[in-house]
Amino acid sequence: MNFAERYGPWAVIAGASEGTGASFARQVAAQGVNCVLIARREAPLNALAEQIRKQHGVECVTASIDLSARDAPQKVAAAVGNREVGLFVMNAGSDPNGAYFLDQDVSTWLELVQRNVNTMMACTHHFVCPMAQRGRGGVLLVNSGACYGGLSTMGAYCGSKAFTLCFAEGLWGEMRERGVHVLTLVMSKTDTPEFRRLMAEKGMPFPEDAASPDEVAALGLERLPHGPIANWGEADDQAGMSALSAAQRRERVIMIDQITKQMFGG
Ligand SMILES: NC(=O)c1ccc[n+]([C@@H]2O[C@H](COP(=O)([O-])OP(=O)(O)OC[C@H]3O[C@@H](n4cnc5c(N)ncnc54)[C@H](OP(=O)(O)O)[C@@H]3O)[C@@H](O)[C@H]2O)c1
Repeated sequence: MNFAERYGPWAVIAGASEGTGASFARQVAAQGVNCVLIARREAPLNALAEQIRKQHGVECVTASIDLSARDAPQKVAAAVGNREVGLFVMNAGSDPNGAYFLDQDVSTWLELVQRNVNTMMACTHHFVCPMAQRGRGGVLLVNSGACYGGLSTMGAYCGSKAFTLCFAEGLWGEMRERGVHVLTLVMSKTDTPEFRRLMAEKGMPFPEDAASPDEVAALGLERLPHGPIANWGEADDQAGMSALSAAQRRERVIMIDQITKQMFGG
């Protein structure tokens, strides 16, 4: 099966208005797969959809949905309707707050978890059921190195990404003999507008070694048949950030806490 036969005729990209989400959308469309693009801001979604239709000759529709809302999974399902979805990409998921846990109202963290855990899981369930019946399809859950352990100012974020890691591994185990590919793509620093905004807000220089969104998305699509995990910058047989002892995990928290203090004070 070629890409469109395995992952078409429609892909749903949640968090598609910019950065890696927009890169996923362009690259999927370039393979002849129609796209449903989801994010909150209508203007960038519509501009991208127009560009995709013109450049790749596929159908492309948009839906403005806040994925942190409790009814987001129902809205996503309604926006997609009865289109046959062969690929679900959950890209939305950063933490725009950059704050200590106690410095935000708990509703901030609950909204983040709602989007990254509940909406991600409910949408995955919705799209994977028919994929499993058809015996083909793919689910790509965008992740972060934060999934490998808790870090100052990122407790809720790390927890949600650790959930994604374990969830993806479990789903991969269940789907691997049913023809549905499952991958969690563990990203590192990537040159997205949201990451640039956060660094500028904190007065920090933008890291020169940040990855390009196009390259990150390309890796995710290339590794999709080889789940459950792809770590950006690491070969498949390299442990990277994940193989840590208790003492190493403690050192990791302290090291990041020192960087955090430079960024956030405290
Ligand atoms: N950038 C990095 O350095 C980096 C590093 C590691 C992991 N990651 C992961 O990569 C993914 C993309 O990150 P990013 O830096 O591009 O930031 P992001 O804030 O996740 O934004 C990505 C997309 O998601 C949409 N989005 C965000 N919150 C949403 C919500 N509540 N409802 C609907 N759409 C929403 C944004 O559009 P709207 O604002 O229009 O809604 C945008 O199109 C995330 O999962 C993140 O955890 C990023």
